[in-house]
Amino acid sequence: MNFRKITFLLSTCLFCSGLLAQNVEISTPNTSMVISAPVGGNLNYLYYGAKLSPTDLENIESAEPSIYSAYPVYGMNCQVESALAVKHGDGNMSLEMEVVNVSTRTEKDGEVTVVELKDKVYPFYVDVYYKTLNGTDVIETWTEVKHQEKKPVVLNRFQSAYLPIRRGDVWLSHLSGSWANEGKLTQERLEPGVKIIKNKDGVRNTHTAHPEVMFSLDGKPQENSGATIGAALCYSGNYKLMVDTHDDEYHHFFAGINEENSAYTLPKGESFVTPAVALTYSDEGLSGSSRNFHKWARDYKLANGNQLRKILLNSWEGVYFDINQEGMDQMMSDIASMGGELFVMDDGWFGGKYQRNTDNSSLGDWVVDTRKLPDGIEGLIRDAKKNGVKFGIWIEPEMSNTTSELYEKHPEWIIKAPQREPVLGRGGTQVVLDLANPQVQDFIYNLVDDLMTKYPDIDYIKWDANMGIQNHGSNYLTADKQSHMYIEFHRGLEKVLQRIRAKYPELTIQDCASGGGRANYGLLPYFDEFWVSDNTDALQRVYMQWGTSYFFPAIAMASHISAAPNHQTFRTIPLKYRIDVAMSGRLGMEIQPKNMTEEEKALCKNAIEEYKMIRPIVQLGDLYRLQSPYDNLGVASLLYATPEKDKAVFYWWKTEQFVNQHLPRVKMAGLDPNKNYKVKELNRVDNEPLNFEGKTFSGAYLMANGLEMPYNHKLDYHKLNDYSSRVLYLEAAQ
Ligand code: DGJ
Repeated sequence: MNFRKITFLLSTCLFCSGLLAQNVEISTPNTSMVISAPVGGNLNYLYYGAKLSPTDLENIESAEPSIYSAYPVYGMNCQVESALAVKHGDGNMSLEMEVVNVSTRTEKDGEVTVVELKDKVYPFYVDVYYKTLNGTDVIETWTEVKHQEKKPVVLNRFQSAYLPIRRGDVWLSHLSGSWANEGKLTQERLEPGVKIIKNKDGVRNTHTAHPEVMFSLDGKPQENSGATIGAALCYSGNYKLMVDTHDDEYHHFFAGINEENSAYTLPKGESFVTPAVALTYSDEGLSGSSRNFHKWARDYKLANGNQLRKILLNSWEGVYFDINQEGMDQMMSDIASMGGELFVMDDGWFGGKYQRNTDNSSLGDWVVDTRKLPDGIEGLIRDAKKNGVKFGIWIEPEMSNTTSELYEKHPEWIIKAPQREPVLGRGGTQVVLDLANPQVQDFIYNLVDDLMTKYPDIDYIKWDANMGIQNHGSNYLTADKQSHMYIEFHRGLEKVLQRIRAKYPELTIQDCASGGGRANYGLLPYFDEFWVSDNTDALQRVYMQWGTSYFFPAIAMASHISAAPNHQTFRTIPLKYRIDVAMSGRLGMEIQPKNMTEEEKALCKNAIEEYKMIRPIVQLGDLYRLQSPYDNLGVASLLYATPEKDKAVFYWWKTEQFVNQHLPRVKMAGLDPNKNYKVKELNRVDNEPLNFEGKTFSGAYLMANGLEMPYNHKLDYHKLNDYSSRVLYLEAAQ
């Protein structure tokens, strides 16, 4: 039982008012959140942090502020920010909520506490939910808004959650970037004023910013020490996260759907459910909060989150749109010969009347182009079987092109304003389908269902989305509901995904959106993984994957070995370094193997074999980030350890190269100080083994001192280069 309710007579003030105070503890194995929810009184926030003892719990009210509503509403305290602001049917714009009931129930995956609030005057209700997930230190919180007023109520702001965070020297870590530069980490001290992190793309919400943040409560962020609070809004659409710091002792954090151009008209008897915000607390620094998120994700928020992922070759950077039977067969045979397990055919395989030879046509015409693939998908599956690999396929279901048979048949299915020309996206012809429309939802569901029914051997789908909503307008929604468009798009998408997952729970589906445009926990419950970025440059990936790992586990982060020079940065990075970076996530390849030398193929073959050995540690283990590339010390390093701490993999990548430079020696973390670990270098290219190859060290030594990495590789002269990286496998002696 991780829910404790403490009922006792409160301080004089509440006592005089005759209220029975009711503090509610929502607890996880290592954390407590306490709210005050006396029936007839206010729902107030009291505490969120490390687990409280019974004594602390009993006295918490006297030590904590109890002045902040746990879900502030607009109207009776207008000068501060609120989470919910509405306009009642009679024009009244105020809310004043009181607790009417508190209950808890046990579900199969955790416990749910519901605080029911009612407006003091209007039949207007808000249920505030807190859910703990068994075995994790994450609390999900969200709200359900409903009413019985005669006329509809307009929701002008409808955030999911609010959390006050004590001021001091609090730092915010968050991700930002752009296409091909996703997941860039920014860390900044919170100062007076308002910090807003938001998205308005409509479709893809994580290119430019992310709906997840971390707060370091004890000063400058540390990876492995200090108190941190993490928050992840589980939503795939437009969002707004805000930290408001004004004249009191707290930073005021809000997270939820971005209400801009999205005022929501709620009819009597219907309810509006906000997306959950997942909160976590750790006193083991940022990496500690990341581990909490990763475990929660693998156990509850990622499709098949605890099943090892296959090592794949994706055709995109190898052949782009140049798809043909022979070429696919050759790629399958090549990845099979290197030990890979899956081949994924990317864009360019479909189109009837219009051929998809570039990005300007055919989306929506999901028929195999028999001019390119005369034997159809059957032929591809036949070749996959022949080569001993599984087969996967790319689709972009939510989109069309104006040059397509689908658009010719259903011009009314696209998002666009009435009486205006559509704004066109990728290739000068791309348009977004209106997922509010149930016919569009059926069309998308049927696309997947037909593929899977006809070709049950399809093992993997890459689901792409390469355009945002650029022009406002749903042809399906009525005129008075146009402001629901963004919300209904994502509700429609979720409905489709729920149907797909109900029928195909084990199908692997990659969540891709022009690279990393959709790394969010709104969608990930339906996907097994996501494409981190269209940028596959290994050096830039060190930075991008570092940031992305704040919130997402390695098992979900598709990380591919690609060609040199790199197709996005044109940088030439040796294969060893490209492999060592890709091997820190869900390893795959994105390259034309036919252009690789035999030596390169052998290196990849060896890497794939070694990755298979460490795959459970990387994909299911605990992450300890050790040396941040953002510290600009010339090196980045991290480590994965099994929960039992009997095996670990240590990664070390130089991020710059100067003669006679001085790099810090990286101390390890996450090992058992009392265990002795034998060191083995993986992906070795040097002519000589490392000094400590095969030697054994205690976890205590490795964590206090680390191992001295040579700054360069020992190679024949003509192979020397300006990159250096190491992967060490550590195994505890029996
Ligand atoms: C964008 C994706 O991010 C790429 O990996 C690739 O699938 C292209 N779309 C195909 O058009």
